[in-house]
Amino acid sequence: MSVKIIGTGSAVPKLRVTNEDLSRILDTSDEWIYSRTGIKARHIAVEETTAQLAAEAAGAALSMAQLAAEDIDLIIGATATPDRLLPGLACEVQRILGAAHAAAFDINAACSGFLFALNIVNAYLRSGVYQNALIIGAETLSRLTDWTDRGTCVLFGDGAGAAVVAADGAGETRGILGMVQGSDGGRGMVLSCGNRPLNNPYVNHGNETPYVDMNGQEVYKFAVKTVPAAIAQAVEAARLTVEEIDLFLLHQANYRIIEAAAKRLGQPMEKFPTNMQERGNISAASVPILLDEVNRSGKIKEGDKIVLAGFGAGLTWGAAVLGW
Ligand code: COA
Repeated sequence: MSVKIIGTGSAVPKLRVTNEDLSRILDTSDEWIYSRTGIKARHIAVEETTAQLAAEAAGAALSMAQLAAEDIDLIIGATATPDRLLPGLACEVQRILGAAHAAAFDINAACSGFLFALNIVNAYLRSGVYQNALIIGAETLSRLTDWTDRGTCVLFGDGAGAAVVAADGAGETRGILGMVQGSDGGRGMVLSCGNRPLNNPYVNHGNETPYVDMNGQEVYKFAVKTVPAAIAQAVEAARLTVEEIDLFLLHQANYRIIEAAAKRLGQPMEKFPTNMQERGNISAASVPILLDEVNRSGKIKEGDKIVLAGFGAGLTWGAAVLGW
């Protein structure tokens, strides 16, 4: 029994906002943003909702998988930015697609959300509870960023990526070969975002803002240490070496973080495709959008070994090794 991704899809909003565009509304520059992050542009939702982007990405993944929405029996939405708290994203996608036979729920593991969803689905499918699952990372982070804070708002974008994951009879070199995930809530406040405060007659209100707040340097240190270690563990769990991995698809927070991870793993940057130049950091959507773009570009060959890795708020991290 193996558990395999059989379709991918992605969607971004129409509006493309360049670093030059941002320099007209903020005290920033293309030079500052690009040299520190690798980001040139990002797409920002104006009319699109998280659920619409998620459903578009999911529809594309279903077409590639040659499955109908009714064939799906589990939908997991990974998001920190659902359009509404109730109903959740996965149920909204179920409604839009007409996936009437699915159980649907959301998880929030921030930028690691897609990896955590993949891990959950792997367990469900391997144990025979479900056959075909849809996992979606979808965000409209532009609703959570303070557009007067140049230290954070330039980093993020909006979009969605999806994958259809199925149990099949292929041998042990196909599908999900190894996975690790972890969390460190103790350091969680280095990247946070407040929610609506408790609002009842018995509380005094706190003063956490409902915007992303980040200690960039702490997050950077966490990422360059934890991500290569998680990848090395997942590769070992898959009984492979990093030299045998064809592609490393990492969360697209920052080009320098990816370069540092490549260096620590002793692997060339050619194995690390990136799209943050055009997409920015889209939290839970980054990894599945990159996977879809690389998949559709024809860069992945049958039999390739691929690493997916996410990291972010929580703090959380996850890595998976796939045999394609
Ligand atoms: N444009 C111009 N100047 C900016 C700016 C912007 N968009 N954002 C911050 N600055 C300024 C700061 O105000 C500061 O100015 P000062 O020295 O006069 O006080 C200066 O640039 C340096 O700020 P700092 O925050 O120390 O920059 P940095 O070198 O740490 O780079 C990040 C900031 C965010 C790019 C970097 O810390 C980083 O990439 N961290 C990881 C973040 C991440 O990946 N988060 C998501 C994880 S999922």
